[in-house]
Amino acid sequence: MADQLLSTVTDYHSLPENYVRPEDQRPRLAEVVSDAHIPVIDMSAPDKSHVVSQIGHACRSYGFFQVLNHGVPVELMLKMLVVTLEFFRLPPTEKAKLYSDDPAKKVRLSTSSNIRKETIRNWRDYLRLHCYPLEEYVPEWPCDPSSFKEVVSAYCKEVRQLGLRLLGAVSLSLGLEEDCLVKALGEQGQHMAINYYPKCPQPQLTYGLPAHTDPNALTILLPDPDVAGLQVLKDGRWIAVDPLAHAFVINIGDQLQALTNGKYKSVLHRAVVNPEKERISVASFLCPCNYAIISPPERLISEGSPAMYRSYTYEEYYKKFWTRNLDEDPCLELFQS
Ligand code: OGA
Ligand code: NI
Repeated sequence: MADQLLSTVTDYHSLPENYVRPEDQRPRLAEVVSDAHIPVIDMSAPDKSHVVSQIGHACRSYGFFQVLNHGVPVELMLKMLVVTLEFFRLPPTEKAKLYSDDPAKKVRLSTSSNIRKETIRNWRDYLRLHCYPLEEYVPEWPCDPSSFKEVVSAYCKEVRQLGLRLLGAVSLSLGLEEDCLVKALGEQGQHMAINYYPKCPQPQLTYGLPAHTDPNALTILLPDPDVAGLQVLKDGRWIAVDPLAHAFVINIGDQLQALTNGKYKSVLHRAVVNPEKERISVASFLCPCNYAIISPPERLISEGSPAMYRSYTYEEYYKKFWTRNLDEDPCLELFQS
């Protein structure tokens, strides 16, 4: 089964047929806007209330922003990128040991997104890990490359702290107590998708990841510093995100859209692939505790702004998400009240 992985083959001269999208689903790369930008926020700026209002604006209008001076050591970000490439360069026999297409597994190397549900594949391999609490999961993580466990666990801890700070700022930006969303999300889980997009012979016919929203609460993406590929939907057009040195790309997931009663948006985004260069990215997902009841605070519901979604538990949502194909309609629509 591990022969499904793209990263075990050295070169593709043409796109295999099961990756080719029908004409009306292709990325239309010529129409992508390259000179618009998602907001960039310097988290170390001395005026904290200004930082909060910038975050609020970004969450309302884009659902996406980049953060600089975010507190995660730059050296650790670089180590994370290095260990990612080392991992995907391991020999096929090593990778085969980790291969699985079962979304329930807590450590798995897989390809595309959910091959049990898909008819058309995506040009991506990924290593998916559960990361919190670390002591519970690290023993099952890959032992190769030899620095993997140490680098990735240090990285996960730092990213979690950043995520919690951001959730505090998001709460404040809505006029809520700083700990309001963190409390609502309960003891949050943390997952990671370490993505590898090989260079692709015909990027105009396929995706690394098709348009989707993230099913979790908040996503912290470490993009490849050298190769762009992430695109965000804004006012009906796809905007290419230019990776800034040492920045993270942050986005609101479905659970924050539900918890904010739709005030903040879980926005469609996608990854396109490149004919000349492979691309990597590391997505960290903060996820509500399975038993957290996703229901907005009273202050965000009013006569003019009635509850948009019924209450549900994250467990219920997550199960629904994985029974579906990534490029179906957004999963949150199934929970409208
Ligand atoms: C994801 C994602 C984008 C990227 O993993 O959910 O949107 O640039 N990744 O890899
Ligand atoms: Ni995503």
